[in-house]
Amino acid sequence: MFKPIGLVAGHYECRSLQQTLPILQDLLALEVVARNDGETVLKHPNTDWKLIAHESDADGPDKAFQHHYGVRVATNREIDEAHEYLQSKKREYKIKIIQPKENHNAYSVHFFEPGGNFWEIESYEKADEAGMGKTTRPHWQTPISQQKFPGRGYIPQALTHGTVQFHDIEATRRFYEDVLGLEVVQLWPSSIYVKHPESPWYIVNLPFRAEPILPTRAQRFVLALESASEVEEAHHWLSNSAQTLGLSTLDPIQSSNDVAWFIFSDLNRNWWEVTSAR
Ligand SMILES: [Fe+2]
Repeated sequence: MFKPIGLVAGHYECRSLQQTLPILQDLLALEVVARNDGETVLKHPNTDWKLIAHESDADGPDKAFQHHYGVRVATNREIDEAHEYLQSKKREYKIKIIQPKENHNAYSVHFFEPGGNFWEIESYEKADEAGMGKTTRPHWQTPISQQKFPGRGYIPQALTHGTVQFHDIEATRRFYEDVLGLEVVQLWPSSIYVKHPESPWYIVNLPFRAEPILPTRAQRFVLALESASEVEEAHHWLSNSAQTLGLSTLDPIQSSNDVAWFIFSDLNRNWWEVTSAR
């Protein structure tokens, strides 16, 4: 089993960074922290995992709703305010908005940005009292103030989750727990959450729907291991058991300046990167 030191990043693919970045900054309170060759690294001030944005082809396909990311506000009232603010920016940003709705004690509004991705702004104000503490317990210590994110009527306080799909819930759980060394939380029969035990952000796993658009390497999640030699060991292990584990792809290991990393596609054809980079 891997011994990850963190679920450190999620990747994000859009058609135009120039068009999508202002949307992520203005509507979701994400900040640009680095620009590398062809990628822009974003981070929410209250969340230590990074969102690494890439540009795809201009005619790349839209991503499935089941592969969205989400931020959280503190109160249900802010979801209605967020809905109103999104409406006011609809033309400028060419976004499509889904009416706010309640689901499993969460109250949220989703929108689709023209880069091809859905986003969720959610409130779990009522969920803690319903015993969902494991995934809802505060994702922030110090709330962001009105002054830092003024004029919208809502404040995204954390980047809480990404989303993937699974085929077999038990096989998926075993893979996360016994191979990736992650923690699985199950609150209801139809879905599971996977997370690193020491951080609050998580990946929601939803049952697979027919005819999906499969995610690409540019939508992978990143697990950090302690050292390059642990990454080598992990790669060796997956190479030997790829078939048993149902992996669809395992890229060769790469290394540079004492950092080792590789990318693979899991039993549900979701992409992961395993790295020793900090
Ligand atoms: Fe979501």
